[in-house]
Parts: sequence; structure tokens; C-alpha cells
Amino acid sequence: MSDDRVIIFDTTLRDGEQSAGIGLTTQEKLEIARQLDRLGVDVIEAGFAASSPGDFEAVRTIAREVRRPVIASLARCVLPDVDAAWEAIKDAERPRIHVFISSSDVQIMHQLRRNPEEVMEMAIASVERAKSYCDDVEFSPMDATRTDIEYLYRMLEAAIDAGATTINIPDTVGYVMPWEFRERIRMIKENVPNIDKAVLSVHCHNDLGQASGNSLAAVAEGARQVEGCINGLGERAGNAALEEVIMALETRKDHYGVETGIDTRQIYRTSKLVSDITGFMVQPNKAVVGANAFRHASGIHQDGVLKERTTFEIMDPQSIGWPSNELVLGKLSGRAGLRARLGELGYNLEQDELNEAFEAFKSLADRKPEVTDADLSALMSSQRRIADIPSVFRLEHIQVSCGNHEVPTATVTLTDPDDREVTDAATGTGPVDAVYKAINRLVNVPNRLTEYRVDAVTEGIDALGDVTIRIEKDERTYVGRGSDTDIIVASAKAYMNALNRLLATQDTRPTFDVPTS
Ligand code: KIV
Ligand code: ZN
Repeated sequence: MSDDRVIIFDTTLRDGEQSAGIGLTTQEKLEIARQLDRLGVDVIEAGFAASSPGDFEAVRTIAREVRRPVIASLARCVLPDVDAAWEAIKDAERPRIHVFISSSDVQIMHQLRRNPEEVMEMAIASVERAKSYCDDVEFSPMDATRTDIEYLYRMLEAAIDAGATTINIPDTVGYVMPWEFRERIRMIKENVPNIDKAVLSVHCHNDLGQASGNSLAAVAEGARQVEGCINGLGERAGNAALEEVIMALETRKDHYGVETGIDTRQIYRTSKLVSDITGFMVQPNKAVVGANAFRHASGIHQDGVLKERTTFEIMDPQSIGWPSNELVLGKLSGRAGLRARLGELGYNLEQDELNEAFEAFKSLADRKPEVTDADLSALMSSQRRIADIPSVFRLEHIQVSCGNHEVPTATVTLTDPDDREVTDAATGTGPVDAVYKAINRLVNVPNRLTEYRVDAVTEGIDALGDVTIRIEKDERTYVGRGSDTDIIVASAKAYMNALNRLLATQDTRPTFDVPTS
């Protein structure tokens, strides 16, 4: 690879999945991996194969199905972990084993409870074991930014001698400042004699809000791989947000003078998909992908942008695939128009998917005459939710009565996998509570609702409402999302989505708790 090419290493499915409250199925991970492939990332860290059978399965599936990017599995510097990583990725077109071990005194003493020389030996033995399986081996000294620098030099040199082809410098606890990190990278380049035999990579956490800045400072000093997650997901405060790093490299090419292999027009869609699947909302003022990232509130700014976009915009929203809010389709639009518009937004559908999307579009256009790109992207998200989750129970009908002098009452009809219908009613403290209680009476799967959120997809009184909920059962969290012009219906869809996810993990075949018709 040329000297001015930065490798983009995505760890949304590994470090990102370690975010508290995220638990993805193999299918969901595969879908994200496919989108990361479209985005053009060079490396996908698909998981930590030895950590659980579920992770192993997900890594193996992605390794078999996603063929262009390098597929990596993480492994601790213990031989059975390395063996499991290889087992999981060996069918990949381009496999990589990524081994890591603590290198700072505080972690060596208190977490590993070993001495530094033993740790050095474990690192070397693991790199050698990984190398016996595949050429592409990455080594990370965990907590490198708080590691004694002389020890770090020795460890990096030994890892490269043992066969590591990428040397990653993690700021595991998000401790350093950009100028300190840049200096550490400079010193590593100067003092590790064989460093030119490996790609120098960085992996920054965001505890002090410096993750993207630290990654970019390292690139300015010659690092040529950046690790991060979409939407800045990851342990604690997260990792460097890849969309920020990529757009900074792109927008400030004059400064960095480097290239990536990323198709930036896929950024918005990737961010949306990750947010949809994880249920982790993107904060509105988030750089690059937040809802307000290209919104101008001040009159002076609006005036400027109308006269010349670049007066107040340093990035073109279209360059990241931002959907417009202009009317694009209406009630009379046909299948071909829908297919063409969806294609422009990056959704290339098979005929049966198009038929389903068209049905959903017609139903939306009946209620919302002006359908925008943002509506279409919300519609595609909800179609995906329906397609992805095995629909154990389906929502057929819902009717609610409420008001300031009424007891909120909901009547709900569901169907089961054998198409049997059941109806029940319940009252609640509000209409959503009544709907959820009616559904609970029918399905009877005890769970705890831990989060309920409703967002408007677009502006205006007829906007689609997008509901996200989280439910918990047996210490596992299940996310559910649903959108509709009616937020009570959207809430019911979100609950059914979460319940179906939960039911899909149960061993017993679910049935209704009441007589069916
Ligand atoms: O933050 C970290 O140090 C890591 C390593 C495993 C690379 O995630
Ligand atoms: Zn990390």
C-alpha cells in the first residue's frame, strides 16, 4: 500500500459491541458487516472469537460471507484464544489475528498479576502462534499510552521480530492529549529499530473527548491505520468515531495529504443502520452524522448558505449521502419511481423486497402526501426490522381510546406463527401503557421496560414518529424500534419488534396465553 494511504479498521462489531446495553445477533452483525463492506473499510474486526460461542459464530459467519475486507478476530495473548481466533476466521479471503496484552505497570501488576518479563514472553509466544496460522498478525500493547516507553519499545520490537505486521498503539483509557500522543508516535518511530517492517496503527478511546483528535494527530505523524467505530460506539465513552476521522482526512486533504478507500456517500446510511440495529441514538449535534450537522438555525447563516453553500458549510451533505428533506415522491408515484429513488439512496432491492417496500410506501403516502428521502430511509429501516427479526407474533390491529376525562383503553389483535388471531384489551396510565398491557396479556412474556423514546424522523406535524424501546429479561437487553405517522402505532410496532427479538432467543415455541379464534 502506498505511503499516503490510511487503512480504516472498523471495530464496531467488537469494541463497539462492548458498549453497555448492546447485544447483537449474528444476523445483525452480518448486516452491519455488509454495510461496512459497502462503505469501503479495509478491515472489519468481527468480534472476539474466544469470548463466547455467540461471538465465535458471528466472526465465522462474517469471515465466510464478507469477502473483500480483511476480517479480524481479537485474541488475548493466551494460546487457546489465538487458536479460537484462527478457527473462526480461517475461511476468510483475507484473515487477520489481532492479539493484545496489557503493557502498563498498573495493568500488569493489578490485572494480570505477572511480572513484565513474563508478559513479554506471552506477547511473543502469541504473535508466533498467530503467525503459524496466518501472515496478517496485529499486535496491541494494551494501555500503551500509560506504558513505560522503554518497555514499550522493547515489546514492539519483539512483536515485529515474532511476525507482527501491524503494530497498534491503543490509548485504552482515553488518557492522552493530541500533542502528547503525536509525540509518542514520533518516539516509537524513532526508537523501535524495525518499525518500518510493520504498519503503525492507533486505537483511541474517548474518555476525555479526544479520540478523533488523537487519531488524526497520529496520522499527521505517520500512523497509517486508524481504528474506530461508527457513531463513536465502544467501551465507556466509546472509540474514535470513524465518520469523523474519515471526513477530517477528506475535508482537510490539504493538511494530511492522505487517501482512504472509503466511499463517503455510504457514511450516513452506515451510521443510520448501526444506530437502528443497536438502538443507540446519534446525538443531534454529533459531528458529521447528527441530525443538526447540516442545519443552519441562525438567519445570517441561512442567508449565507442560500447565497453560497460554502459560506457556512465545510462539507457537502451529499458527499456523506445525507437524504434531502425535499418532496421526492407522492401518492401517485409508481414502483419504478420508488425503485429509482431508493437506488439513488443506495438501496438496491430484489423484486420481492421492492414489492414489500412499495406496499409500505403506498400506505405511508396515503397518510403523508409528501414523502421525502428522510421518510424513505425511515421506511427502509422499518422494512429491515421486519425482515430481520423472525416475526413470531404479528401486530394486526390496534385501537385506542383516550382523552383528558377518559381511562386510556387499548384493544390489540395479534397473530401467531400459525396465523391464529387473538384479541384482548387493557387499560393503562396512558395510551402506550394500555397498548403494552394489552400485548402483555396476549403474549405473557414477563419483561422490564427500561427505555422508551420517541423521535420525529422529519419536521412537520405529519412527520413519521420513530420509537425506540429497550426491554430486559434475564439480564439481557432487547432493543425494539418502530415508525409510523401515529406514535401509538409506532410504539406498538417497537414493542412487538423487541418481543419478537426476545422470543427468537427462547428455546420453547411461543404460543398465545389466551384462546385463539
Ligand atoms: O482499547 C484497547 O486497548 C483495545 C485493545 C484490545 C486493542 O480495545
Ligand atoms: Zn478499545
